[in-house]
Amino acid sequence: GKGGYDHFMLKEINEQPTSLAQAVEGRIDPENGRITLEDLGPGTFAGIETVQLVACGTSYHAALYGSIALNRAGIRTTAVLANEYSISAPPVDDGTLVIAVTQSGETADTLSALRQAKLEGARTLTVTNVVGSTAARVATDALFIRAGPEIGVAATKTFSSQAIMLVLLARRIAADTQSDPPENGEALLAELAGMPDRTEDVLATSDAERIARRYHDSRSYFFIGRGLGFPVALEGALKFKEITYEHAEGFASGELKHGPLALVTPETPVFAVFTGEEDEKTLKNASEAQTRGAPVVAVCPAGHEALEIADGHLEIPETNSTLAGLFANVQLQLVSYHAASLLDRPIDKPRNLAKSVTVE
Ligand code: F6R
Repeated sequence: GKGGYDHFMLKEINEQPTSLAQAVEGRIDPENGRITLEDLGPGTFAGIETVQLVACGTSYHAALYGSIALNRAGIRTTAVLANEYSISAPPVDDGTLVIAVTQSGETADTLSALRQAKLEGARTLTVTNVVGSTAARVATDALFIRAGPEIGVAATKTFSSQAIMLVLLARRIAADTQSDPPENGEALLAELAGMPDRTEDVLATSDAERIARRYHDSRSYFFIGRGLGFPVALEGALKFKEITYEHAEGFASGELKHGPLALVTPETPVFAVFTGEEDEKTLKNASEAQTRGAPVVAVCPAGHEALEIADGHLEIPETNSTLAGLFANVQLQLVSYHAASLLDRPIDKPRNLAKSVTVE
């Protein structure tokens, strides 16, 4: 059942402290900076030169998040929409690892990209929530996110777990393939270990309901972020449109001035995600929207410089920029949920959508 919540979506948003703890359980050792991914032991990824991530929808946003983490770990990586893969895939060979990111493991688009990659000689892996899913059977290797069942059509807890698994995988692959693996491994793993508790704090103190109440009758909703904040902005907008039925768009912060700014009015609130990656630039981009009358909601830590101009604040803990976006995402999930609830939407089963899309 819904465990006392009005909707599965809210239950699943609130399960993230547990789902994140399960994702990393037994897989990280902050003491020595080591990551253990079951049978994907040391040497598994030897010879991998490039990585392609294939996924759809929310899982694609997790894949984009992961692709940034992989690139920063020195691994050449692209994220490709699985439904574009058949006509737009970059070339593969036996030095290519294709990772299908799919909660259900049954998304037709993602499975056909995976099958195509395998046929063309790539090595394959899936990051999935469902043991025994088709993706887990088709891919050579599988890594399970262990998020537990997700009933709400809108993916929430599985997004954060997929992103975390890809962050771990980036370090694991780097350890096998880079002579000079990325630094600060211990610090990141320590932050990761503390993530469930801090997510609990975000959930307990979130101002998202008040923010949703203030802005839920706007004309359109914009979400901006840069670096790892960019996929979070895309995901924030996707969640918002899915369950509120209102128009929302996500942009890279720096893109606002290349076109979308023409849409900005006092009726288009801008949610700006600050992840500690060139925040001063994102702040400038948000200010430009504010100058055109748009209210700016800053998703950032307490005491952040963005709060000098922001009209609203959704607080995230002070943390590593690799993880900041995932706390921001929890706040944005809550904003979407509360806005949808104020608008009286069905939430768990939005019109026209299915939990698992098994046709191409
Ligand atoms: C959005 C959502 C969808 C799925 C997409 C892929 O909330 O749930 O966009 O993310 O259909 O599904 P999986 O991850 O099962 O491949």
